Amino acid sequence: MKLTVIGCGYLGATHAVAMAELGHEVMGVDVDRARVHALRAARAPFHEHGFQDLLSRHVATGRLRFTTSFAKAAAHADMHFITVGTPQLDGSDAYDLSHLRAAVGQLASQLDGPALLVGKSTVPVGTSEELLALVRRRVRPGVRVSLAWSPEFLRESHALQDALRPDRMVLGVAPGDRASADRFREVYATVLAAGVPLLVMDLATAELTKCAANAFLATKISFVNAMAELCEATGADVRQLARALAADPRIAPGALAAGLGFGGGCLPKDLRGLADRARTLGAGAIADFLTGVDRINLGRRQRTVDLAAERCGGSVAGRRIGVWGAAFKPGTDDIRDSPALHVAEALHRLGAQVTVHDPEALDNARKACPQLEYVEDPGAVAVDADLLLLLTEWPLYRLQDPVALRERMHTPAVIDARGSLDGTRWRAAGWSYLRLGAPQA
Ligand code: UDX
Repeated sequence: MKLTVIGCGYLGATHAVAMAELGHEVMGVDVDRARVHALRAARAPFHEHGFQDLLSRHVATGRLRFTTSFAKAAAHADMHFITVGTPQLDGSDAYDLSHLRAAVGQLASQLDGPALLVGKSTVPVGTSEELLALVRRRVRPGVRVSLAWSPEFLRESHALQDALRPDRMVLGVAPGDRASADRFREVYATVLAAGVPLLVMDLATAELTKCAANAFLATKISFVNAMAELCEATGADVRQLARALAADPRIAPGALAAGLGFGGGCLPKDLRGLADRARTLGAGAIADFLTGVDRINLGRRQRTVDLAAERCGGSVAGRRIGVWGAAFKPGTDDIRDSPALHVAEALHRLGAQVTVHDPEALDNARKACPQLEYVEDPGAVAVDADLLLLLTEWPLYRLQDPVALRERMHTPAVIDARGSLDGTRWRAAGWSYLRLGAPQA
């Protein structure tokens, strides 16, 4: 089938590649010329497992093309996926829908025949209704356009796997719009045949499902992190506690790793966006609840900064601190709302000399936080350092030798904010080892 994917950020570029992999003829559209240039040349604009290979393969076959032209997009297909970014609005908790509105408006004005628009961006409930009104104002007289909403649940670092074999797919359609659901089923025929469930619902429920899923994941993480605080105060161990909770199938193991908490381009802004929308709609209980979840999450970053100061004898001013990790989680070079960089910056502001290592995110981190020092070798952060912090749990940090590293440190002290290192081994190598959520030694 011929499809377009409007917006080639993380979500859109992944979706475009996944659609080509399913056998469709895909045209990706973005207003960012540099990005379109890179994608056309089969250069991945971000680090994502398997993405580069599939991009190269499908650009080479011609099944995957990219353009900045909405006219070309409208001429290419009659089914258009909308994957434009919806970041947090500056100075507000609400979503910034300006790029989404602009893209949908531009596309609508170029359509000259019946078309189906399938939104995939994460949006506040009620957005598709607003967009449909916008489309109707912009399309030429007599052109029939349908709008459906199919939120995407992909995780960075597992994005292609999640796009091609999701746990479930959700599709919101207007009342009685069977035709859109049928077209959608055609696009995903092989995925559906593999047994992936498709839940068809109304538009508002589909929009809300995505925000609710992310808010629930954030809630689980903040719950276990709030318990971590209690564990620290009582001498209990949150890792053992989480393992015991996870054994109950009603609770389930995911999103229960205590530590520095969640960041990234989705969980924090979706939590805030949902709280903001709920408040506007008068649903104060959920808004207050989600604000609490956010507060607990940010509290773990502050707790790590405070622990660092404690370990440095009350203040980090003038101390050298080595940091492992800049990405918001392992497996990605994404530093959006990264807890690791947040802590590193806070320590720098308090007067520490902070040196950061990350295996993938150094370029992005350097651009966003030029005031920090960066090194290519994980061992280099230890040179003359008073404290080492593990802030993003890349597997390579577990492979570092604590004996060799100790020699480089001024004071062999480590705070493991992700519960990733083998504490027994580090203590045996002569380190003062502290894990968030464990009894404080
Ligand atoms: C998330 C959702 O998982 C995905 O379904 C949605 O489409 C987009 O948002 P992503 O942001 O890629 O995906 O990351 P995820 O793996 O969920 O992790 C989010 C953050 O939570 C990371 O900072 C991670 O370090 C943290 N996290 C995750 C924890 O602190 N503890 C956990 O147990 C799990």
